[in-house]
Amino acid sequence: MDTPVEGFSKRSKAEKIAYIAEHFTKDPEASKKLLEQYWNPDPAVQKLHDEFIENTISNYYLPFAVAPNFLINGKLYVIPMAIEESSVVAAASKAAKFWLDRGGFKAKVIDTEKVGQVHFIYKGDVQKLQHFFEALKPKLIQGVSSITQNMEKRGGGIKNIELRDLSDKIEGYHQLHCTFETLDAMGANFINSCLEQFAKTLKDEAASYANFSPEEQQIEVVMSILSNYVPQCLVRAEVSCPIAQFEEGGISAEKFLRAVNIAKAEPYRAVTHNKGIMNGVDAVVLATGNDFRAVEAGVHAYASKDGQYSSLTHASIKDGIFTFWIELPLALGTVGGLTSLHPLVKLGLEILQKPTAKELMQIVAVAGLAQNFAALRSLVTTGIQKGHMKMHLMNMLNQMGASESEKQQLVQYFKDRTVTNASVKEALEKIQSQ
Ligand code: MEV
Repeated sequence: MDTPVEGFSKRSKAEKIAYIAEHFTKDPEASKKLLEQYWNPDPAVQKLHDEFIENTISNYYLPFAVAPNFLINGKLYVIPMAIEESSVVAAASKAAKFWLDRGGFKAKVIDTEKVGQVHFIYKGDVQKLQHFFEALKPKLIQGVSSITQNMEKRGGGIKNIELRDLSDKIEGYHQLHCTFETLDAMGANFINSCLEQFAKTLKDEAASYANFSPEEQQIEVVMSILSNYVPQCLVRAEVSCPIAQFEEGGISAEKFLRAVNIAKAEPYRAVTHNKGIMNGVDAVVLATGNDFRAVEAGVHAYASKDGQYSSLTHASIKDGIFTFWIELPLALGTVGGLTSLHPLVKLGLEILQKPTAKELMQIVAVAGLAQNFAALRSLVTTGIQKGHMKMHLMNMLNQMGASESEKQQLVQYFKDRTVTNASVKEALEKIQSQ
């Protein structure tokens, strides 16, 4: 297919499907059938999903699971997780159980500040810009009063607006660096609406500021957008217990500590270590309708905040107590966006007892810490493959087309055997030939 398609988004769903199936798949009828099989039988629900994005031709399923027994600040949670990786939920549940018997997780929100910036170019006298900004600031705030009114009533709104001079990096580059409190909303729309109005006020006011020369009056706004780097929207989660109790699980506290310290010291290991944390974080972020790309971007930037990419978790052994903790920047919402639209997201939040954004930050941080605990526990004891391949066994058997009874027999057979692609294939063929 080498001619571009015109007006694709305006075509009906059936036309889009026909176009894709007929031009880009080997068996158009089978492809159409497959796309239809993944539709929701309720047309209203399907319509809802169709309208989340443009050009929807089907639904893409991910398993929606739960990890029970998470004791967080004395309250028991069942955590919903949306993820495809086979061992993640099992690992989370095991970690939850381990710490349930050792006092549970403690979590606290350190701060909830969100950030947005208006990036602009001003090549004139910097002193004059500073004076202009002092006079501008109340006008900026006044200019967004219709946007901020409701948020302010609930205790949120604009926290601060700062003028930043970055002209040493790019000629004339300045910013309005703005901070916000958006309460239970992730706040992207609120922040971006404020920023775009700030930009307009900035430009308009500069154009009539008498102390600026005609050139200085022409401020060029480059863009206005929130930042996904939120180092002041921070949560900490922690577990701790006496070393003897920790080691009842068959893990050496010293070895565990060393594994964490390796990830702190060395970026190759840190990236994988943090990836394991994000297995837990993303699964909950996704199940609760939040933006996992935003979270990923912000978290990894935070992991590099000291100049070298490093571990997001930390551990210590002091006075006979083992402590393991995480600090994560998380901009999350429990109202607005997908949280009030996607039926499973609504259910996910209900399962979590309708948390505030602060509570959700704590839950997500705990999920990340638990996941890292589970990964490190496996890595420093049996190795990761044992548990991983056991969970992966079902995927392999499905891929090899095993029947239900063959699957049952093989799950039993591999209880105390090593799972590899070759060993599973061989065992399946043996059963099938009998
Ligand atoms: C796999 O998805 C995640 C791990 O690699 C994390 C880790 O190595 O810590 C097991």
